[in-house]
Amino acid sequence: MKSTISEFDERRAAARIAELQQQVQSLQQQLLQAQKMSSVGVLASSITHEFNNILMTVINYAKMGIRHKDAAMRDKSFEKILAAGHRASKITTGMLSYARQQGDRREPMDLVPLVEDVLVLVEKDLQRYRVRLTTKFDDHPFAAVNSGQVQQVILNLIVNARQAMEQGGNLTVSVRQNKEQGQAELSIQDSGCGIPPEKLRRIFEPFFTTKTADEQGQGGTGLGLSLARDIMEAHGGRIRVESAVGIGTTFTLKFPLIAAPVKPVVAQTVR
Ligand SMILES: Nc1ncnc2c1ncn2[C@@H]1O[C@H](COP(=O)(O)OP(=O)(O)O)[C@@H](O)[C@H]1O
Ligand SMILES: [Mg+2]
Repeated sequence: MKSTISEFDERRAAARIAELQQQVQSLQQQLLQAQKMSSVGVLASSITHEFNNILMTVINYAKMGIRHKDAAMRDKSFEKILAAGHRASKITTGMLSYARQQGDRREPMDLVPLVEDVLVLVEKDLQRYRVRLTTKFDDHPFAAVNSGQVQQVILNLIVNARQAMEQGGNLTVSVRQNKEQGQAELSIQDSGCGIPPEKLRRIFEPFFTTKTADEQGQGGTGLGLSLARDIMEAHGGRIRVESAVGIGTTFTLKFPLIAAPVKPVVAQTVR
């Protein structure tokens, strides 16, 4: 029997492989987006509560402004309403920019504002679970990043940290640069339950989770850290973890450090 593979078959196989590769890529993209949305889902209840509080502020100060005719009181009411409106808009802007699907492009970014945008989203959730947040932004290192993807990693790490502190605790988020090693570093440290060594070996595996569904049906997917590692590798960076049972856990993201872009000099008009 002849078993030569015709050129036709070969071409067909090559076309099929290309097709499958495309499908895998598209599924990976979808998985990334789905995981991103599920991590926002964890925050939904806290964000809704926060919006309710903001609306109560708006309603109460509007009532006060209507009731009191004196200008000073009305000014104060308007100021409170305005501040509440700004706060609400900061949160929705943060949500929208977080949820936006972005391509694969990486751009030079200061890591500090990148983290700050995520903190706006989690602030309430942390308060609600009695987690005290400390930020240490010693430097403003730049790295070439896809901001959506890196924010997804940061949010995952913060949500994991909060979930590890059931009785409340301390969360420290730091950004610094390590010039000798040419690295921009971002670390997220919690005072939670810690991870025993036999589990520590497995936490980056896809679908590894120790979380069972809570009353809101939100368990773990076990995808957060596995995607975090993929995203860090795509950035030429690394993710490191240190943990001690009963003391807490620190995750550190390391990116190749790049020079801060030179700000364009704005021409001054001479009068
Ligand atoms: N900060 C942390 N403290 C304690 N355990 C953690 C922490 N972060 C991750 N883990 C452990 O790693 C597992 C995998 O995390 P992850 O990939 O984000 O999946 P998920 O959060 O859906 O369970 C968690 O289920 C948990 O057991
Ligand atoms: Mg997680």
